[in-house]
Amino acid sequence: MAEHTGDVEIVPCPDGPVLVRGSFAIVGATGPSVDRGRPTVALCRCGLSQRKPFCDGTHRITGFRTDDEPTPLS
Ligand code: FES
Repeated sequence: MAEHTGDVEIVPCPDGPVLVRGSFAIVGATGPSVDRGRPTVALCRCGLSQRKPFCDGTHRITGFRTDDEPTPLS
C-alpha cells in the first residue's frame, strides 16, 4: 500500500461531485490504484458518470440534487 503524508481536503460540491485534494490514493475494488491524473480530483456522487470514479459533468445534465451539506466541525 502506498504511503501518504499531509492533509487531505474533501469538499462536497452542492448538486455535484466531491472534490478531493492532497496526498491520497484511489484504489479500485479489485486492488490496483486508479491513476488520479491531477492533484485535485472530482469524484462522482450522482452515480451516472461514464468515467467513474471521476465526475464527467453528467450530473448537470440530469439535474442531480444533493441534500443539505454536512455542518463543518468547529
Ligand atoms: S457527480 Fe458529476 S457526473 Fe456524477
